[in-house]
Amino acid sequence: MAVREVIRMGDPRLLRVAKPVEAFGTPQLRALVADLLDTMQAMNGAGIAAPQIAVDQRVVIFGGFRSPRYPDAEDIPFTVLCNPVLVPIGDAREDGWEGCLSVPGMRGVVSRWHRLRYTGFDPDGRPIDRTVDGFHARVVQHECDHLDGVLYPMRITDLRQFGFADVLFPGQALEDD
Ligand code: NI
Repeated sequence: MAVREVIRMGDPRLLRVAKPVEAFGTPQLRALVADLLDTMQAMNGAGIAAPQIAVDQRVVIFGGFRSPRYPDAEDIPFTVLCNPVLVPIGDAREDGWEGCLSVPGMRGVVSRWHRLRYTGFDPDGRPIDRTVDGFHARVVQHECDHLDGVLYPMRITDLRQFGFADVLFPGQALEDD
Protein backbone atom coordinates (compact mmCIF):
# COMPACT_ATOMS: atom_id res chain seq x y z
CA MET A 1 0.00 0.00 0.00
CA ALA A 2 1.19 3.55 0.42
CA VAL A 3 2.09 6.42 2.66
CA ARG A 4 -0.42 9.10 1.72
CA GLU A 5 -0.19 12.86 1.98
CA VAL A 6 -1.66 14.13 5.26
CA ILE A 7 -3.68 17.26 4.61
CA ARG A 8 -3.19 20.12 7.05
CA MET A 9 -5.41 22.50 8.98
CA GLY A 10 -6.81 25.08 6.60
CA ASP A 11 -7.85 22.47 4.04
CA PRO A 12 -11.66 22.48 3.90
CA ARG A 13 -11.74 18.70 3.51
CA LEU A 14 -10.80 18.46 7.19
CA LEU A 15 -14.00 20.30 8.10
CA ARG A 16 -16.48 17.91 6.50
CA VAL A 17 -18.78 15.56 8.36
CA ALA A 18 -17.54 12.26 6.93
CA LYS A 19 -19.84 9.66 5.37
CA PRO A 20 -20.60 6.34 7.07
CA VAL A 21 -19.01 3.14 5.79
CA GLU A 22 -21.78 1.22 4.05
CA ALA A 23 -19.96 -1.88 2.80
CA PHE A 24 -17.59 -3.91 4.99
CA GLY A 25 -14.94 -6.41 3.95
CA THR A 26 -14.40 -4.76 0.60
CA PRO A 27 -11.03 -4.38 -1.15
CA GLN A 28 -11.53 -0.61 -1.05
CA LEU A 29 -11.94 -0.56 2.72
CA ARG A 30 -8.92 -2.85 3.20
CA ALA A 31 -6.83 -0.60 0.97
CA LEU A 32 -7.92 2.47 2.94
CA VAL A 33 -6.97 0.82 6.24
CA ALA A 34 -3.58 -0.25 4.85
CA ASP A 35 -2.87 3.29 3.67
CA LEU A 36 -3.93 4.75 7.03
CA LEU A 37 -1.60 2.33 8.83
CA ASP A 38 1.35 3.05 6.54
CA THR A 39 0.80 6.79 6.92
CA MET A 40 0.35 6.70 10.71
CA GLN A 41 3.54 4.65 11.13
CA ALA A 42 5.56 6.80 8.74
CA MET A 43 4.61 9.92 10.73
CA ASN A 44 4.82 8.32 14.19
CA GLY A 45 1.21 9.19 14.95
CA ALA A 46 -0.88 7.88 17.83
CA GLY A 47 -3.79 7.57 15.45
CA ILE A 48 -5.15 8.87 12.17
CA ALA A 49 -8.56 9.42 10.65
CA ALA A 50 -9.55 8.89 7.01
CA PRO A 51 -10.36 12.60 6.45
CA GLN A 52 -6.69 13.39 7.20
CA ILE A 53 -5.76 11.63 3.95
CA ALA A 54 -8.70 13.32 2.24
CA VAL A 55 -10.96 10.24 2.31
CA ASP A 56 -14.53 11.14 3.22
CA GLN A 57 -15.34 8.05 5.30
CA ARG A 58 -16.00 7.42 9.00
CA VAL A 59 -12.87 5.33 9.61
CA VAL A 60 -10.18 5.89 12.24
CA ILE A 61 -7.22 3.81 13.34
CA PHE A 62 -5.20 4.15 16.53
CA GLY A 63 -3.03 2.31 19.03
CA GLY A 64 -0.60 -0.54 18.70
CA PHE A 65 2.43 1.71 18.88
CA ARG A 66 5.36 2.31 21.18
CA SER A 67 6.67 5.82 21.38
CA PRO A 68 8.74 7.83 23.83
CA ARG A 69 6.26 10.62 23.18
CA TYR A 70 3.33 8.55 24.42
CA PRO A 71 4.52 6.58 27.44
CA ASP A 72 0.94 5.62 28.29
CA ALA A 73 0.25 4.24 24.86
CA GLU A 74 1.25 0.63 25.29
CA ASP A 75 -2.14 -0.29 26.66
CA ILE A 76 -4.01 0.71 23.54
CA PRO A 77 -4.46 -2.23 21.15
CA PHE A 78 -4.20 -1.51 17.46
CA THR A 79 -7.76 -0.71 16.46
CA VAL A 80 -9.57 0.00 13.22
CA LEU A 81 -12.90 1.60 14.04
CA CYS A 82 -15.60 2.31 11.47
CA ASN A 83 -18.77 4.32 12.12
CA PRO A 84 -17.87 4.97 15.77
CA VAL A 85 -20.30 6.11 18.44
CA LEU A 86 -18.89 7.59 21.66
CA VAL A 87 -20.84 7.86 24.90
CA PRO A 88 -19.18 9.53 27.91
CA ILE A 89 -19.47 7.76 31.25
CA GLY A 90 -19.75 10.05 34.24
CA ASP A 91 -18.96 13.75 34.37
CA ALA A 92 -15.20 13.64 34.88
CA ARG A 93 -13.07 15.50 32.40
CA GLU A 94 -9.30 15.68 32.09
CA ASP A 95 -6.90 18.20 30.58
CA GLY A 96 -4.06 16.86 28.46
CA TRP A 97 -1.59 17.89 25.77
CA GLU A 98 -2.48 16.90 22.22
CA GLY A 99 -0.87 17.10 18.84
CA CYS A 100 -2.18 16.22 15.40
CA LEU A 101 -0.59 15.12 12.14
CA SER A 102 -2.72 17.78 10.42
CA VAL A 103 -1.37 20.52 12.71
CA PRO A 104 2.36 19.74 12.51
CA GLY A 105 4.76 21.02 15.13
CA MET A 106 2.08 22.29 17.52
CA ARG A 107 0.74 21.14 20.89
CA GLY A 108 -2.25 22.30 22.90
CA VAL A 109 -4.11 21.44 26.10
CA VAL A 110 -7.56 20.00 25.47
CA SER A 111 -10.23 18.94 27.95
CA ARG A 112 -11.70 15.49 27.18
CA TRP A 113 -14.05 13.05 28.87
CA HIS A 114 -12.05 10.87 31.26
CA ARG A 115 -14.10 7.73 30.66
CA LEU A 116 -16.30 6.61 27.80
CA ARG A 117 -17.80 3.70 25.95
CA TYR A 118 -17.18 3.40 22.23
CA THR A 119 -18.89 1.18 19.76
CA GLY A 120 -18.45 0.65 16.04
CA PHE A 121 -17.28 -1.97 13.58
CA ASP A 122 -14.01 -3.43 12.40
CA PRO A 123 -13.32 -3.55 8.63
CA ASP A 124 -15.12 -6.91 8.36
CA GLY A 125 -18.23 -5.52 10.00
CA ARG A 126 -17.69 -7.22 13.36
CA PRO A 127 -18.89 -5.11 16.26
CA ILE A 128 -16.48 -3.39 18.64
CA ASP A 129 -17.67 -2.36 22.12
CA ARG A 130 -15.19 -1.05 24.68
CA THR A 131 -15.21 1.01 27.84
CA VAL A 132 -11.95 2.90 28.31
CA ASP A 133 -10.46 5.81 30.20
CA GLY A 134 -7.43 8.09 30.32
CA PHE A 135 -5.14 8.27 27.31
CA HIS A 136 -7.06 5.60 25.39
CA ALA A 137 -10.27 7.65 25.80
CA ARG A 138 -8.41 10.81 24.76
CA VAL A 139 -7.05 9.26 21.56
CA VAL A 140 -10.48 7.94 20.57
CA GLN A 141 -12.09 11.33 21.16
CA HIS A 142 -9.38 13.13 19.16
CA GLU A 143 -9.59 10.74 16.20
CA CYS A 144 -13.38 10.58 16.11
CA ASP A 145 -13.56 14.38 16.21
CA HIS A 146 -11.89 14.32 12.79
CA LEU A 147 -14.97 12.50 11.43
CA ASP A 148 -17.10 15.49 12.40
CA GLY A 149 -14.73 18.10 11.03
CA VAL A 150 -13.35 19.06 14.44
CA LEU A 151 -9.61 19.68 14.94
CA TYR A 152 -8.20 19.84 18.47
CA PRO A 153 -7.33 23.58 18.32
CA MET A 154 -11.07 24.23 18.06
CA ARG A 155 -11.46 22.67 21.52
CA ILE A 156 -8.69 24.60 23.27
CA THR A 157 -10.25 26.86 25.89
CA ASP A 158 -7.03 28.58 27.03
CA LEU A 159 -4.98 29.56 24.00
CA ARG A 160 -2.02 30.35 26.26
CA GLN A 161 -1.66 26.58 26.37
CA PHE A 162 -1.21 26.25 22.62
CA GLY A 163 2.11 26.61 20.85
CA PHE A 164 5.04 25.11 19.04
CA ALA A 165 6.22 21.83 20.49
CA ASP A 166 9.91 22.73 20.38
CA VAL A 167 9.24 26.00 22.23
CA LEU A 168 6.85 24.50 24.79
CA PHE A 169 9.06 21.49 25.48
CA PRO A 170 12.63 22.54 24.68
CA GLY A 171 15.19 19.78 24.51
CA GLN A 172 12.64 17.00 24.51
CA ALA A 173 13.36 16.04 20.88
CA LEU A 174 9.70 15.64 20.05
CA GLU A 175 9.00 14.35 16.62
CA ASP A 176 7.79 16.90 14.15
CA ASP A 177 4.17 16.17 13.83
NI1 NI B 1 -5.54 14.61 14.64
